[in-house]
Amino acid sequence: RKIYYYPSIGSTNDEAKKLAQNGAPHGTLVIAEEQTGGKGRLGRRWVSPPREGIWLSIILRPSLEPYEAPRITMTCAVAAAKAIRKVAGIDCWIKWPNDLLVEGKKVAGILTEMSADMDSINFVVTGIGVNVNNTDFPAEIKETATSLKLVSGKNVGRLKILTEFLSQFEVVYRYLEDGEFGKVLEEWRQLSCNLGRRVRIIGRNYELEGLALDVDDDGALLVKTDGGTVERVLSGDVSLRE
Ligand code: BTN
Repeated sequence: RKIYYYPSIGSTNDEAKKLAQNGAPHGTLVIAEEQTGGKGRLGRRWVSPPREGIWLSIILRPSLEPYEAPRITMTCAVAAAKAIRKVAGIDCWIKWPNDLLVEGKKVAGILTEMSADMDSINFVVTGIGVNVNNTDFPAEIKETATSLKLVSGKNVGRLKILTEFLSQFEVVYRYLEDGEFGKVLEEWRQLSCNLGRRVRIIGRNYELEGLALDVDDDGALLVKTDGGTVERVLSGDVSLRE
C-alpha cells in the first residue's frame, strides 16, 4: 500500500484529494511531520507543528452511498480512541461528531471530505490530527486543547500510536464495508462522552439544548429537547453541559 510522506506540507487532506483526483487507490496514506495550512472543521485551522503530532489523511473508495459518509468519520474516531487508550493508557472519549477528548480537552480531530455526485461516492479523504507531544498551544485554543504528553506527563511514541491506529482502522473499516456498521456503532456508543448527557448544539442557523439519547446509522445525534421532542442532528458544534 502506498504511503506519501512529507517533512512539511500545506494540508495532508488537500494533498490526498489531489492524489485521489489523479487516481490514487483506496488505502493510500498521506502523512506529514508538519502542516503549514492544517485545516479543521468549519473553516478553522488545525495547528500542526513539526514532529509534535500525527497529521495524516487516508484515501478511501468505499462502497457506500454518499449519505452514509458520516459513518467513515465515526469509524475513524473509534479506531483512534482505541489506539490512544491502548498505547498511551489514557481514557480517551469521542465527542460527537468528530472530536477525541481527554480530561475534557480536545486531543484529536477528524476532517472527512468527500467527492461524490447525487448517488455515488467518487472518493473520500479522511484526515486525522492527533496532538501527541505538543507542550504548548496558541492562546486561542490553550483552554480547550491538550496532548497525550501533557496528560500522561511523558513523551508518547508517535509511531506506536500510528501503527496501532492503522491496524484498528483496518479492523473497524472492514465491519463498515461488510455491512456490520452496527458493531462500529456499538463501540462508538461505549466510547462516547455525549450519550446520556445534556448537550447544547450550535448549528448554522439554529441552537438547541437537550439530552443526547443516541446516535443512529447515519451518524445523526438524537437529542431529546426540553419541549419533549426528539431532534435528529446531523451536524453542528456541540458543547457538553453539566
Ligand atoms: C477538527 O477537529 O476540526 C478536524 C481537524 C482535522 C485535522 C487533520 S490533520 C490531518 C488532516 N489534514 C488537515 O488539513 N486536516 C486534517
